[in-house]
Amino acid sequence: MATSKRAASARARANFALVKYWGKADTRLNVPAVGSISITLDALWSDTQVEFDERLATDELSLDGQRRADQLAKVSACLDLLRERAGVRARARVTSSNNFPTGAGLASSASGFAALVTAAAGALDLKLPPRELSVLARRGSGSAARSVFGGFVEMHSGRAADGADSFAEPLLGGADWPLEVAIAITAKGEKEVGSRSGMERSAESSPYYSAWVATQGNDLRAARDAIAKRDFAALAEVSERNCFKMHAAALAATPPLLYWNGATVECVHAVRRLRGSGVPVFFTIDAGPQVKAICLAEARPRVEAALRDVPGVLDVLSSRLGPGAELR
Ligand code: PMV
Repeated sequence: MATSKRAASARARANFALVKYWGKADTRLNVPAVGSISITLDALWSDTQVEFDERLATDELSLDGQRRADQLAKVSACLDLLRERAGVRARARVTSSNNFPTGAGLASSASGFAALVTAAAGALDLKLPPRELSVLARRGSGSAARSVFGGFVEMHSGRAADGADSFAEPLLGGADWPLEVAIAITAKGEKEVGSRSGMERSAESSPYYSAWVATQGNDLRAARDAIAKRDFAALAEVSERNCFKMHAAALAATPPLLYWNGATVECVHAVRRLRGSGVPVFFTIDAGPQVKAICLAEARPRVEAALRDVPGVLDVLSSRLGPGAELR
């Protein structure tokens, strides 16, 4: 390298899957066993700065102001892929912060790794197309491949042995169907079983895992079709079904994975009651106790107020759909 320091900063937003990724086809390359479809949010983001510095002996990671040795191996492995492409050996100082709770089922790994690869590629002056950034982000966290893009996004599980065709791509811009999201926070603090070990346990021990994988193609088709037609009722039906199927597979693992608390279930009932009374809203839940209610824009104040009234709800965040990862 001609210079001893190269730095760049990037912002990437969280995304929530409506048709979920749960299970891996290849653990080493982090290739998902199933495709997935998500929405990228505007209001929840990771800001990440990457600075390659030849004087560093090892990579360093600061997350929300704290040194995180426990997360460093995954971050370094991702940076190694970028260093290899750029022919650079320098270690990096990574400083990342989330404007929302980390590791609590709000997709902080998705926004975090999408911001990491975008900033690292920028710092190394690699002009990579978004699809390649998506492949690289996937190596850090499967869902991160989707946060490279904005709006409605589809992730392909791919077939290639090297994972080169396991990337996300945009389906529809957020402005073309401006759904909104209200997120009920029912617990703070990091979850007990992360998605990586949760999905591995489900694949190894859940009798429902094979049915989960076998029926994903139908749900992907239904969601793709609903998004293309802007058919809210159809998207609600497939999203809730897919969410419950993922959790059913997890619940039947040994030992069982129960990501919900009482307030999670109460929020699900509240969303179903609202929809029963004509409000266009549906829910999804990831590997944590928070409930994400997706609705048409005009319904968002009502959905937010109803979730705030559910006993055990600590806070409600709201967001529009947002753009893909960007250098800043
Ligand atoms: O990308 P990971 O390893 O954080 O796994 C994401 C798993 C879910 O959030 C539960 C589903 C999804 O598709 O985002």
